[in-house]
Formats: sequence, C-alpha cells, structure tokens
Amino acid sequence: MTDEINHSLPEAYVAIDLATKDSGFTMASDIQTCSLLKTLAATKPGGTFLELGTGTGLSTAWILDGMDKDSVLVSVDNDARFLEIAKDHLGTDPRVTFEHADGGDWVEENLEHRYDYIFADTWHGKYLLLDEVLNMLNKGGLYIIDDMLPQPNWPEGHDLKAIRLVQELEERNDLVLTKQVWATGIIIAVKV
Ligand SMILES: C[S@@+](CC[C@H](N)C(=O)[O-])C[C@H]1O[C@@H](n2cnc3c(N)ncnc32)[C@H](O)[C@@H]1O
Repeated sequence: MTDEINHSLPEAYVAIDLATKDSGFTMASDIQTCSLLKTLAATKPGGTFLELGTGTGLSTAWILDGMDKDSVLVSVDNDARFLEIAKDHLGTDPRVTFEHADGGDWVEENLEHRYDYIFADTWHGKYLLLDEVLNMLNKGGLYIIDDMLPQPNWPEGHDLKAIRLVQELEERNDLVLTKQVWATGIIIAVKV
C-alpha cells in the first residue's frame, strides 16, 4: 500500500488490523470494500446505519469514517471475543453502539427500526431474514453486501445460495441494484 493511500485510512485501522491478525479472525472485508463502504456512508448525512456482522470492527471503522457527526450506527455480532476488539478501538465513538447478540434474535427484536444504510455482512440480512432486513430500509436507503463472487473459503454448496440470493434481490420491485464484478463482488441496492 502506498503512503498516498495510507492518508485516508481510518485512525484506528492499523491497530484493529494488527489485533485482527493476532486474533486469527480471517473474515474481515477487504480494503477496497471498506473504502466503498466509507464513500457510501458519506451519502447519508444524519443517517441511521446498521451493520450486521461486526467482526473485529475493520469495516465498522471505515463506515464510521464516512459518517458525519449526526449519524448513528448499530453494529451486531454474536462473537464476544471479536466484538471486544471493535469495542476496544472504536467504543469511545458516541455514534456507534455495539450489540452482542445473535443476528436473528436481534433482527426479530428490532423489526420496527428503520435505517438509511445497511451493510449485511453475516447470515442474517443476507441468507437469512432477507425480507425482514430489507423492510428495515428507509426509502432511498442503501443495502450493501459483499463476497458475492466465488471466494476460496466458500463451503461446498455456497455458490448455489449466492445465486439464489442474487435472484431474490433481482426479483424484488422495491430495489434498484447494481452487481459489481470488483473486489469480492459487491451488490449495492437502493430501496425505492
Ligand atoms: C464476514 S464476518 C464480518 C466481518 C466484518 N464486517 C468486517 O468486514 O471486518 C461475519 C461475522 O458474522 C458473525 N456471525 C456469524 N454468525 C452470526 C450470528 N448468528 N449472529 C450474529 N453474528 C454472527 C461472525 O462472528 C463474524 O464476525
């Protein structure tokens, strides 16, 4: 990575990256995806943001970097050990609330909440409870998923799940979507 690119890294990025590598967490979003997450976050001033699947907080750091001071983010993960890394490095930012919960339970308990931006980076909101999570999007809200191009760590049969998810998204008449063949395969949809 060049120094030029380094200038735009979130402040906590290098420390979280090191802690992530030490922890053995291997599911973090790549830097291209994170950069796009930040750029898209900047389109929602005063926005309400949801991240399903915090991991160690790498993507969270980038989303927070794109958000303005009036925006708020809820980030959910069921793994306390990884979530702790995110909390250690980002927990003092008053805009973010970390929720240690099963994604399914959390979604079921928060169905009435509405968001301007949802990064669905775990099972729920992607392969599970898709309709429920898409219903949480405000009109004009962004729904973002990655890892939609074949990945080396996909278990057998996951390709079929990914194909079905893309079909489900394409069949909806309340989403305008673009499927990018870039980074790990990002889909961006806007609720209409
Ligand atoms: C792809 S990783 C998230 C990576 C993170 N967004 C990033 O870019 O660094 C998926 C996360 O989902 C979490 N997870 C898996 N099953 C879950 C569940 N049932 N409820 C909540 N989180 C879950 C895992 O602990 C993992 O941190």
